[in-house]
Amino acid sequence: MDRILINGGNPLQGKVRINGAKNSALKLMAAALLSDEPLVLTNMPDLADTRFMAHLLAHLGVTVTRENGTQMVLHAKALAEPFAPYDLVRKMRATFNVLGPLLARCGFARVSLPGGCAIGARPVDLHLKALEAMGAQIELEEGYALAKAPKGLHGAQISFPFVSVGATEHAMLAAVLAKGETVLDNAAREPEITDLANCLNTMGAKIEGAGSASITITGVSSLGGTNHRVVPDRIEAGTYALAVAATGGDVCIENCTYAHLGALWDRMRAIGVSVESQQEGKSVRITQHNDRCAAADLETQAYPGFPTDLQAQFMAVMCRAEGASIIRETIFENRFMHAPELSRLGADITVHGREAVVRGVPALHGAPVMATDLRASVSLVIAGLAAQGQTEVNRIYHLDRGFEGLERKLSALGADIKRVAVAT
Ligand code: EPZ
Repeated sequence: MDRILINGGNPLQGKVRINGAKNSALKLMAAALLSDEPLVLTNMPDLADTRFMAHLLAHLGVTVTRENGTQMVLHAKALAEPFAPYDLVRKMRATFNVLGPLLARCGFARVSLPGGCAIGARPVDLHLKALEAMGAQIELEEGYALAKAPKGLHGAQISFPFVSVGATEHAMLAAVLAKGETVLDNAAREPEITDLANCLNTMGAKIEGAGSASITITGVSSLGGTNHRVVPDRIEAGTYALAVAATGGDVCIENCTYAHLGALWDRMRAIGVSVESQQEGKSVRITQHNDRCAAADLETQAYPGFPTDLQAQFMAVMCRAEGASIIRETIFENRFMHAPELSRLGADITVHGREAVVRGVPALHGAPVMATDLRASVSLVIAGLAAQGQTEVNRIYHLDRGFEGLERKLSALGADIKRVAVAT
């Protein structure tokens, strides 16, 4: 198993290019199941998660080819048996989103329920209720969802009791081929939802209101192929921005969308970091010349609020801030697993349920650490970059799920960071 070694203390300087969004790419890949014509995705990240999804889609009969590094062609000309086995679903929750498209295209499907996850229970009840409202008959048996829609799916009025990104996307993926009109109320508004809707619309779907809390989908009888550019990864962009806040420096983050990170920019300005939109909002310059940032409180919220996927990285910055910060996690019930690991570097963090109090210390000191999920892992990298001495980050396969070329990109910015293979 590889690990990452960081000698902290270098400010970050230069330019970094952001990839397409993992969390959009995965659902766009599932959309390929809805058409027998090719879907060409450009600006595609190359990550363990996108490879895993490609594996599942290949099992379902989709031809998946990667071209020129960042282009992926998915062609679901004829599907195999609509069966997604446990081994191809359990590692990653987004794979469950194949259920709706399979049901819409084949009339039945058998998909393993996704496994538990380190950041909380993460059930799929809202996904299943949405599909049932559209006429699916679903039974849960031995860890599988067995779904059928003998008369096809039909439009429905679906009001989500709380905002769910995955359930909104799943309902949209199923409703595009359903008979009649579907209205999703209290829908998620994340840029990845709008990206999926834009792609489906160019395939011939009729979706209105994506990006707002009410989405209307008028079903069509079939969808064609298209060519779609994946939206930039706002979480990757925000992670580099927070790394600069932690280490100090001056970095231009390119190929991102400034407008997608308003809540982060608000918090970064509150802690004394300069944030400047450039190139008509397609790049952002982050400048931080103080030894320590100021402290600020934070609460995660669904978009356009502060993303839960940047909470761990913000906490890493707060570890060395001047003053105390209260961080409240409202999306997932167990997303402070990074706190005890950050404490190993000398951070002063107390967790009470969904709230963490971080009292900034003048210096962090390198230590061996490991993390249990993707964003937690990268928060340890950020803390390591800001710490004195050497930090060793273990279990870095989590990082490979969501950050392409992390060490390469950070090294190019001046960080002393390298990956070391460890004999097993
Ligand atoms: C997506 O997860 C992202 N994953 C997550 O990113 C992200 O943290 C999350 O949205 C919130 O922004 C992908 O897009 C692949 P939800 P998702 O449904 O769709 C509960 C990362 O690090 N819930 O919006 O699974 C759920 O438990 C990952 O890249 C139900 O109770 O998130 C959570 O508390 C981690 N029943 C809340 O809703 C359901 O049926 C929001 O989850 C569905 C969700």
